[in-house]
Amino acid sequence: MPGGTSEVVLTSIFAPAGAPADAIRTISLLVLAIAAAIFLLVGGLLAYCCVRYRSRPEDDEREPPQVYGSNPVELAWTVVPILIVFVLITTTARTIYEIQAAPPPADAINVRVVGHQWWWEFQYPDLGVVTANELHVPAGVATYLTLESADVVHSFWVPRLAGKTDVIPNRRNVMWLTPWEPGTYLGQCAEFCGTQHAHMLLRVVAHPPAEFQRWLASQRQPAAADPRVASGRELFEATACVSCHTVQGTGASGTFGPDLTHLMSRDTIGAGVAPNGAETLKSWIADPSILKPGVLMPAMQLSQSELDQVVAYLTTLH
Ligand code: CUA
Repeated sequence: MPGGTSEVVLTSIFAPAGAPADAIRTISLLVLAIAAAIFLLVGGLLAYCCVRYRSRPEDDEREPPQVYGSNPVELAWTVVPILIVFVLITTTARTIYEIQAAPPPADAINVRVVGHQWWWEFQYPDLGVVTANELHVPAGVATYLTLESADVVHSFWVPRLAGKTDVIPNRRNVMWLTPWEPGTYLGQCAEFCGTQHAHMLLRVVAHPPAEFQRWLASQRQPAAADPRVASGRELFEATACVSCHTVQGTGASGTFGPDLTHLMSRDTIGAGVAPNGAETLKSWIADPSILKPGVLMPAMQLSQSELDQVVAYLTTLH
C-alpha cells in the first residue's frame, strides 16, 4: 500500500468496470446483435436456397419462371436497410454525445497524461503529484484526462474503463473515466509507436476516496533520505541518471524519463515489462535493453558494487 497490488483480472470491453465503458459496451452489443441478425437471415436464406433449389438429375431443361420487378420487394429492401442504418446512426450519435459532452463535475480529478516512447507520465497539476505508468484515481469520482504526446502518436486505452483516445503531438485531447469500484485495471498503448509499443503498458488503480487521499499525501512527501544509502544517492546524483530522472528534493530534475521520487510505490518498472523490485531494478539499470530492446535509456556502465549501492538507494524511494 498505497502502491496497490490488488488482483489483476482479465481485461475486456465486455466487462466494463465504470463509465463510459458501460455505455460503449451497450452500443457495441446493440450493433453486434443487429449485425448478427442480418448475418443469420442472409446466410440462412442463402443456405436454404442452395439446398432447396440445387440442381437435380430429374430437372427438366426449361428455364424457371422469370420475374421482372416487384414494388413490394423493391420497397422492402430499400426501406428496411434505411431503418437499420437510422437506428445505428442515432443510437451511436447519442452515445458519442453523452460521452463527449459530459462537463467535468466540480470534484473531478484532473490529470495531464503525457505519452512518451515508451511510457506514460501522469501529472496531477492541482495536486502537486507526478508519477508514471500507474494512474491512481478515486473510485466513484470522475477523473478528467488531458492527453498530450512528447514524441509520436500513442493511444490511451483502459478497456474496462473507457474507449481509446489518441495521444497526438502538438494537440490536446481530452477524455474521462469513472471506475465504479476500487481495483486495478490494465491498459496499454493502442497505437503503434515504435519498437516497444507492445511494452507501453499502464494500469489504473482505483482507490476508495479516503485511501486515495492517503496515496496523494504519501506522493506529496519529499523523497526519502535514508542516511544508510547515502553512498548510493551520491552515485545516483553523480551519474547521467539525473539528466533524465527527477527525484524531488535532490539534484535530480530531468524530465526525459519517469519521475522516481516514489519509485517503490509502483508495481512494475519499464512501463509494465517487469515487476518492481531490487533484482529487476539491478537488471534494468545494468542494461535496460535486455528487458526492453530498443528502450531509450542507455546501459549505465556501473560496476557491480556501484549498481548495488544505487539500487539500495532507489529501493528506499517509497
Ligand atoms: Cu505508445 Cu504505442
